[in-house]
Amino acid sequence: MSVDLNDAHVLITGASRGVGAGLAREFRSKGARVTLVARSAGPLEELAAELGGVAIVADLIDPAGRDGLIARAEEQAGPVDVLVNNAGIDATGGFTDLSADALARLVALNVLTPMELSRQVLPGMVARERGHLLMISSLAGVAVLPGMTAYASSKSALTHFTSGLRAELRGLPVGTTVVEVGLIPTEMRDAVVAYAPTAAAFRRFYRLGVLTDTSLEKVCRASVAAVARGRRHVRYPRRALTFPLLAEAPRRMTELILSGVPPR
Ligand SMILES: NC(=O)c1ccc[n+]([C@@H]2O[C@H](COP(=O)([O-])OP(=O)(O)OC[C@H]3O[C@@H](n4cnc5c(N)ncnc54)[C@H](OP(=O)(O)O)[C@@H]3O)[C@@H](O)[C@H]2O)c1
Repeated sequence: MSVDLNDAHVLITGASRGVGAGLAREFRSKGARVTLVARSAGPLEELAAELGGVAIVADLIDPAGRDGLIARAEEQAGPVDVLVNNAGIDATGGFTDLSADALARLVALNVLTPMELSRQVLPGMVARERGHLLMISSLAGVAVLPGMTAYASSKSALTHFTSGLRAELRGLPVGTTVVEVGLIPTEMRDAVVAYAPTAAAFRRFYRLGVLTDTSLEKVCRASVAAVARGRRHVRYPRRALTFPLLAEAPRRMTELILSGVPPR
């Protein structure tokens, strides 16, 4: 279902830079009011001031940062119409070189946080019969390269989680969009290709013409347009489309098989 973004309240996690900051600007340009969440108070408050929005400084890895976050945002700016689960970290490197703490932090931010914030926001959306979740997943959620095992697994979980939510929300006016994109030039991209085996794997994909970078502007424009039109997926680069389409096949088949079965 489409979403009228004019005056809609959009909460974006990880909005201090990169994709989150780009999404905040794009949503604002469509008339939305934005609430921005991240740890870096300076850039976050600066962007919120520029966009006339609200800044909530929070560490989402810390349960205290996640607990009651939606209620805090709604106290300040009214019901959340669109939740953007964007905040994410990579942990590029050999899997067993990861410390227990780094692994726990990655899962807490990339998996637990979007699940928990969705848990907090959905009952209100369902009651108001209006709402949308935008999930910033990744092509890594369907195709995993060496050095990206933990990150890719977390994105796979996010994509699959969203598919489950869609099944539970069937028939209700609350939608979801999953963004599955390859590399985007941000600080995270720089960190990912700093690990030689991962960089070599990407080089092979790029040489074969299967992958290419996608600009931040393109990802943000397409993601906001997808929310406005109620589209379920944003997938770039086009040349890699077969990967997410194949991974989606069993989910769509399940949807078809369950189409007559009440979801609630
Ligand atoms: N860049 C790519 O190539 C690419 C490709 C596909 C998908 N993605 C996905 O796009 C999303 C954004 O990535 P990006 O490239 O924009 O990364 P980025 O430039 O590193 O930005 C990450 C954002 O997440 C926030 N963040 C990190 N840790 C946090 C925490 N503990 N609590 C709250 N916020 C936190 C950061 O803000 P603070 O540091 O201020 O907290 C920052 O605003 C991620 O989910 C990523 O997986 C990226």
